[in-house]
Amino acid sequence: MRKVTPIFFLSAALAAATIYSCKKSGDHVGQALSQGTEVLEMPAMPYDYSGSGFGIPVDNNKAALGRVLFYDRHLSINNSVSCGTCHKQALAFADDATFSRGFENRLTGRNSMPLQNLPGPNVFGGVGISLFWDGRSSSLNDLILRPINNHVEMGVADLNTIPAKLAELPYYRELFSAAYGDGNITNERISESVTTFLQSIQANRSKLDRQQQGEKVMNAQELYGMTLFDSKYNCRSCHTLTPAVYYGTMGQNFVNIGLETTPTDKGRAAITGNPADEGKFRIPNLHNIALTAPYMHDGRFTTLEEVIEHYSHNIKNAASLDSRLKGPDGKAMKMNITTDEKAALVAFLKTLTDYEMITDPKFSNPFKIK
Ligand code: HEC
Ligand code: HEC
Repeated sequence: MRKVTPIFFLSAALAAATIYSCKKSGDHVGQALSQGTEVLEMPAMPYDYSGSGFGIPVDNNKAALGRVLFYDRHLSINNSVSCGTCHKQALAFADDATFSRGFENRLTGRNSMPLQNLPGPNVFGGVGISLFWDGRSSSLNDLILRPINNHVEMGVADLNTIPAKLAELPYYRELFSAAYGDGNITNERISESVTTFLQSIQANRSKLDRQQQGEKVMNAQELYGMTLFDSKYNCRSCHTLTPAVYYGTMGQNFVNIGLETTPTDKGRAAITGNPADEGKFRIPNLHNIALTAPYMHDGRFTTLEEVIEHYSHNIKNAASLDSRLKGPDGKAMKMNITTDEKAALVAFLKTLTDYEMITDPKFSNPFKIK
């Protein structure tokens, strides 16, 4: 264990200036700070962010800068929303709302995604990576500026205004200097440092991970759920627990699971223009699944039981329904999962929660409300 490092306010003068009061409280949404003030609290030495599951070294100063940017509301047009507003640590960096609220309370079109085990630019040779529900981004580095620019999320139409805006805040010069050797603020550095921070967030200490590393931590019901998941119901034929598969293309990672006969959201087809891709979405990473309700790209299911009931009885005959979810007659399969089996599957899915990741201070919001 690392020693506890003293918390300090970057410097006395800096701390005073770091406190910002929200003048236009009407603009604020979510956890509004209407009358409050936010203070940036950082450890004297950056946390140790190494140990990315992909064996890629993580630069601690870049990750520390990326963490501050991730939680800084100044990255939105009216200082109301940060990445952390829709990506909450306690929820594996997903959101518990069906659709999340951006600046001016605008609603996103899809359910927020957990952020964990994300491949940075050096992972899998940087090729074949699919990000977002529809895979419209293939590079984590390029993705970072998109939410800032997005007209629903953070609303900054002209990204070129961001560096000058951040330069007015007292804490960035020192943080950029530590990470890059000089205090210049550029969008490239913003992307790279947030990427570094995100890449350091690894879900790999769940009960299932530990069981797979040889510890005997899963009980009989959980193990039974695992055999149902792996073999009887073939869930693992899609949901492998390996990031190379759920973020890498591997040819097969967009699938229609028959939520609707005619998909409301075209999903992958909106990107490829191919009608055969209608209603296909990226196969989600099930790490921390117990924390990321509601479920599916549109947040339609509130509980894991409802998700399993979908597979059990409610798969629809969509044109692009995946063959793994069809019966011998070529129609939507009915798995007829029994009550005991459902309970075991849910118990198994709950073994995927990494409690260390969601409570680790190095991933937490460094802005404290005073
Ligand atoms: C207003 C809510 C909101 C804000 C603010 C927001 N996001 Fe997201 N994020 C989402 C939603 C919704 C999705 C899924 C979008 C989709 O697939 O169409 C998403 C998806 C992502 C993904 C893709 C994850 C994956 O597995 O493919 C990443 C990475 C991400 N966001 C990072 C960020 C970063 C970094 C910021 C801040 C610069 C940010 N987000 C700000 C709502 C938000
Ligand atoms: C043919 C591939 C495939 C099979 C087989 C499959 N799934 Fe899925 N699963 C998906 C896709 C794709 C999604 C996302 C669909 C969407 O949002 O439109 C999904 C979504 C989920 C979700 C919600 C994830 C989230 O983040 O919202 C859970 C939980 C889940 N599946 C569990 C299971 C279980 C349990 C089984 C076995 C009974 C199973 N899946 C079988 C492809 C599959």
